[in-house]
Amino acid sequence: MFKKIDRESSYSVKYDLRIDKFDTEDVIPLWVADMDLASPKCITDRLTNRASHPIYGYTIYPDEYYQSIQHWMKSRFDWHIDRDWIVPCYGVVPSINFAISAYTSEGDSIIVQTPLYPPFVSSIRHKHRVVLDNVLIYKDGKYSIDFDDFAIKAKEAKMFMLCSPHNPTSRAWDEDELEKIIDICIAEDVIILSDEIHSDIVYKKLHHSIGSFEKIQDRCIILNAPSKTFNIAGLNTSYAIIPNRRKRKIYILEQDKSGITNGNPFGIEAIIGAYREGHIWLDNLKLHLQSNIDYVNKTLITNNIPIKSLTTEATFLMWLDCRDMKLSQQEIVEFFVYKARLGLNDGKSFGEAGDGFMRLNIGTSKEILEEAMDRLCKAYEELS
Ligand SMILES: Cc1ncc(COP(=O)(O)O)c(C=O)c1O
Repeated sequence: MFKKIDRESSYSVKYDLRIDKFDTEDVIPLWVADMDLASPKCITDRLTNRASHPIYGYTIYPDEYYQSIQHWMKSRFDWHIDRDWIVPCYGVVPSINFAISAYTSEGDSIIVQTPLYPPFVSSIRHKHRVVLDNVLIYKDGKYSIDFDDFAIKAKEAKMFMLCSPHNPTSRAWDEDELEKIIDICIAEDVIILSDEIHSDIVYKKLHHSIGSFEKIQDRCIILNAPSKTFNIAGLNTSYAIIPNRRKRKIYILEQDKSGITNGNPFGIEAIIGAYREGHIWLDNLKLHLQSNIDYVNKTLITNNIPIKSLTTEATFLMWLDCRDMKLSQQEIVEFFVYKARLGLNDGKSFGEAGDGFMRLNIGTSKEILEEAMDRLCKAYEELS
C-alpha cells in the first residue's frame, strides 16, 4: 500500500530542487513536508474522473465541499462546525498572511513559539509586525510551553500564532496546555490564529482543535487542509474555520482584496473524496508512519548513534537532537549531506532554537527509509 514510487520527472520540489537546496543531487531527499507515498484511491479516482471531462473552467465550491469538511471534523475530532464558518482558500500560508493583515496593523506584536515552521516568522516580518518569541522549553527530551513568559508577552501582543500540532517539534498539545494558553489570551484580549494542518496525523493522543474550546470561539481562526494528510499539497486547497461572524467578514474582505475567488476543480474533488472516504486509508497511513518512526529510533539506538529522537507525537517529521555529536551546526549539516548523502532540513532554519537539531521527513516507503538509515549508519561508522 505504501510502496516506493519514482518521483523523478514529476516536477517535485523534494527531488527536483536538490541541487538548489543541497548543492548536490546525490542525496536521498527527506526534507520538504510532503510524502513519497501515493494518495488514496478515493482521491485518484475522483481526479481521473474529473480529468476525463475536458473543460476545466471556473469552479464553485459545491454543498458537498462544505459537508465533507463538516463530516471530517465531526467524525475525526467530535467537533461540530457550522457550514458558514468555513472559508475556502488556496493554502494555509496564504491564509496566515491574510489573517495577519486582517487582524493586526503595522507595528503590532504577534507571539510565536520557536523552533518553528519558518513562514510564521517571515510572514510577520514581511508585514512589518513585531515577532514576540515565546521560545519553547526543551527539557529531558521534551518540549513544553513557558507559560510565565507567554503571559508577559501576551500583555503587549495582538495575536498568537499557534502551530497545533507543532512543526518541527512534533508536539501534539495537551488539553490543559491549550486551556492555559486560551485563558491568558482571553484575559489579555489576544486573537489566536491556529494552524492545524498536521492535526490528522497524531499518534497515541487526541488532537484538540483550538476552536473546539467554546470560550475562545469568538477570537480564534483555525487553518486546516487535507494536503499533509493525503499528500495533495500540489492541489493548493485549504480552508479557514472562523466561528465569529464579524471576524469572518474581516478575513473574507482581506482574501477578496487579494483576488482570491474560485477554487480549482481538482482540489475540490480531492477534498470531497478524502474527507468522505479516506478514513481507513488514513488509519493505515498512521500505522505505516509509526512503524517508520520506530525503525529510525531502533536504528539510532542499536547502532549507538548519538542522535536523540524525541517522542514523535504527531506529523511525519522527526525532530532529531544531534547535539551529542559534538559538532557545530554547519558540521552536522555537512555530515548529513556529504557523508551520509541524506537531504534533511537544517534545524537552524526553524530559528536559533533549532541549533543542534535536524528535521527528518519519514513520510516515505520502507525501502527508501532503510536505504537512508544504512547510509546514516555507514557515515557514522566512518566518522567515529
Ligand atoms: C505548520 C504548517 N503550516 C502550513 C504549511 C504549508 O501549508 P500550505 O501548503 O497549505 O500553504 C506547512 C507545510 O509544511 C506546515 O508544516
